[in-house]
Amino acid sequence: MSFDLLVKNGTLPDGRKADIAITGEKITAVEPGITAPARQTIDAAGQLVSPPFVDPHFHMDSTLSYGLPRINKSGTLLEGINLWGELKPLLTHQAVISRALAYCDWAVAQGLLCIRTHVDTCDDRLLAVEALLDVKKQVAPYIDLQLVAFPQDGYFRSPTAKANTLRALDMGVDVVGGIPHFERTMEDGRRSVTELCEEAAKRGLRVDMHCDETDDPLSRHIEQLIYETQRLGLQNRVAGSHLTSMHSMDNYYASKLLPLMAEAQLAAIPNPLINIMLQGRHDTYPKRRGMTRVPEMLSYGIKVAFGQDCVLDPWYSLGTADMLDVAFMGLHVAQLSSPANMRKCFEMVTTDSASIMGLEDYGLAPGKKASLVVLEASDPIEAIRLRATRLAVIARGKLVATAPSRASTLALAGRAGLVTRRHIVPPQD
Ligand code: FE2
Repeated sequence: MSFDLLVKNGTLPDGRKADIAITGEKITAVEPGITAPARQTIDAAGQLVSPPFVDPHFHMDSTLSYGLPRINKSGTLLEGINLWGELKPLLTHQAVISRALAYCDWAVAQGLLCIRTHVDTCDDRLLAVEALLDVKKQVAPYIDLQLVAFPQDGYFRSPTAKANTLRALDMGVDVVGGIPHFERTMEDGRRSVTELCEEAAKRGLRVDMHCDETDDPLSRHIEQLIYETQRLGLQNRVAGSHLTSMHSMDNYYASKLLPLMAEAQLAAIPNPLINIMLQGRHDTYPKRRGMTRVPEMLSYGIKVAFGQDCVLDPWYSLGTADMLDVAFMGLHVAQLSSPANMRKCFEMVTTDSASIMGLEDYGLAPGKKASLVVLEASDPIEAIRLRATRLAVIARGKLVATAPSRASTLALAGRAGLVTRRHIVPPQD
């Protein structure tokens, strides 16, 4: 027996040491001491070998457009939406594709191989939808791209959004989105949640709504989203993105919501970089962090994954497609500092995120898709601390990116003493 590719002596995120054998696009074996020959071997001794990073919340139609046609002066979510509205009529099919493909190259270099992107359905041309469906096909050999039909200007608030959103779903967009807190009234928001969940149930699709992305503690559309998830039998298929109003809610009300979320198996997707940047903008001091209640959700067994949301666009002026940046910020904002919680933050940008997206062939096990990343780190906590170098990225059995070791670069420069890896004994809880 021989393999196409063998990754030798790596450390898996759970601490096991194993070789990973790959044949074609699939993982064939994960066990120590594989001796059968392989056409190509990667030595991962002392390095962390992880399934690829997964971004469960992104906007690929706006990425890399920073400064077009101007920058967001107030830094608020609402100016970002207005600015995107100014850019939308100027978009061309080719420009959206070029920017998205450039971003996908960044993603591959960072070991980010699964992305759920929302796509605006409020442009009557559905130009971004067509462009991203095209991108999805082009990157399919190395990135799993999932599209969410997202009525950015409001499913009811924008006159043609409803028809356009349904048309986008007919065109093959994978997931039903929404933005209830941006509708004209609370009642319109509630109705939008109901109609969109019914549409998802009818079509057999998942739901991922921008829900309550506001500092208003009375924005409670999450309640309706939980209700519809239960009523329509959509358990384990619905995610609430952002849920920032929960940060500001009355504690008693939140204590009622959290068990209901758990009961409906409704997942949460906070976006730490964007939440900490956009929320609390109307506060003086004390200034709210704005991110939703992550530790409390975890304590109720609610599935949580961190998303990146934006890179260089009307809402966010930074970003590098690095999900370890996202985990690093999420860990800080939610104060997830115990060893177990720090490891959880790594899972929230890998396995938990894949689970929310329903990626069944994801993971380091025989029969799964042969996509993985070799990180210059001893374990998931060190990977977050260092935002570790991606020494090798493998997508569907093919080596698609490599990077020089940071340690060897420093050693070459005569500065080996500055190497910051440090684990002698892995931290315990
Ligand atoms: Fe978003």
